Amino acid sequence: MEVTQVHMNGSLAEASYANNSLLQRKVISLTKPLRDEAITNLYCNTLPRSLAIADLGCSFGPNTMLVISEIIKGVEKLCQVHHHKSPEYKVFLNDLPGNDFNNVFKSLDTFKEKLRDEMETKIGPCYFYGVPGSFYGRIFPDNSLHFVHSSYSLQWLSKVPEGADNNKGNIYLTSTSPSNVIKAYYKQFRTDFSFFLRCRAKELVEGAQMILTLLGRKCDNPSSKECCYIWELMAMALNDMVLQGIINEEKINTFNIPNYYPSPSEVKLEVLNEGSFVINKLEVSEVNWNALDDCNAFDFESEMSESLRDDGYNMAQCIRAVAEPLLVSHFGEGVITEIFDRYRKILTDRMSKEKTKFTNLSILLTRKP
Ligand SMILES: C[S@@+](CC[C@H](N)C(=O)[O-])C[C@H]1O[C@@H](n2cnc3c(N)ncnc32)[C@H](O)[C@@H]1O
Repeated sequence: MEVTQVHMNGSLAEASYANNSLLQRKVISLTKPLRDEAITNLYCNTLPRSLAIADLGCSFGPNTMLVISEIIKGVEKLCQVHHHKSPEYKVFLNDLPGNDFNNVFKSLDTFKEKLRDEMETKIGPCYFYGVPGSFYGRIFPDNSLHFVHSSYSLQWLSKVPEGADNNKGNIYLTSTSPSNVIKAYYKQFRTDFSFFLRCRAKELVEGAQMILTLLGRKCDNPSSKECCYIWELMAMALNDMVLQGIINEEKINTFNIPNYYPSPSEVKLEVLNEGSFVINKLEVSEVNWNALDDCNAFDFESEMSESLRDDGYNMAQCIRAVAEPLLVSHFGEGVITEIFDRYRKILTDRMSKEKTKFTNLSILLTRKP
């Protein structure tokens, strides 16, 4: 499985990421205090005249510019308090080459206009750059970044772990996954995450701030229901289709989702081993599968009418937006609608009976001298 197939559903269609990323937006709003802290740290450590900000795994749609606008507003607020001149902003938006960058680029003029309207004072010039490429590799020059942000992207591994091919009947880790499969996933996470840190260590200047939020888990067991349930339910839909002869059994046995949901101690271990970053904070949060469950209706007013339809439908669309390209490349276009119809029914049933949540890990790091 190539990393380039792990991009989100493009265009502005019903199943696109732009139209189905409310849950990720909720997570971004949960981590605002961490971004405020990082901006203050950056301001106190070093406030360059030209501030380089990168969002890694930016995708496209309303979430992409939300974080950037918040960071710029945070810096501007501090500039006003300290009577400093607004810096020049260089904003780097990174994702895999298959990302719908055009969608992002087309929204830039409106974004800049809106930002200037919302600010009371004149802000410095803002320059935007698209950076296509895997963050599991070097994507920026040495010592060039001051603030790095990434949300809900680092749970994607660079590839399906090698040696996970006896995970029969499953598409991700579950309680029935053989121990060699669990070990293979953890090994791939360690390789990828440590390489990610090594690359960023070269790219960030001393005192630079990096906030990473990814799907994770609280418990020690990487195959626990806490983090694996969402894929277990999809495997149920696929296995039903095998029983009815719609999908070949071999197809499921050779499909594994290239994700890993680490525990706080697994993340901490890699950061300490790599050695270039101080851990300022490592936080765990939760978000309901139904992102509207515990939020203020007015925060997401525009999405309300659509989203209130059906919890299972919303969750199936959310997963479809992030996993459809992967599923199409393995199972073919012809069965996709059927897979998601069945998945939606299973999700609706489970979500009406259980309180289902994702666990998020957020880590705030400072580049050491
Ligand atoms: C669920 S989306 C999150 C998007 C956005 N940050 C948000 O919070 O709404 C995950 C994004 O990570 C990107 N991604 C996954 N692996 C990547 C990699 N190795 N390098 C760069 N981007 C990657 C995907 O293409 C996708 O756009």
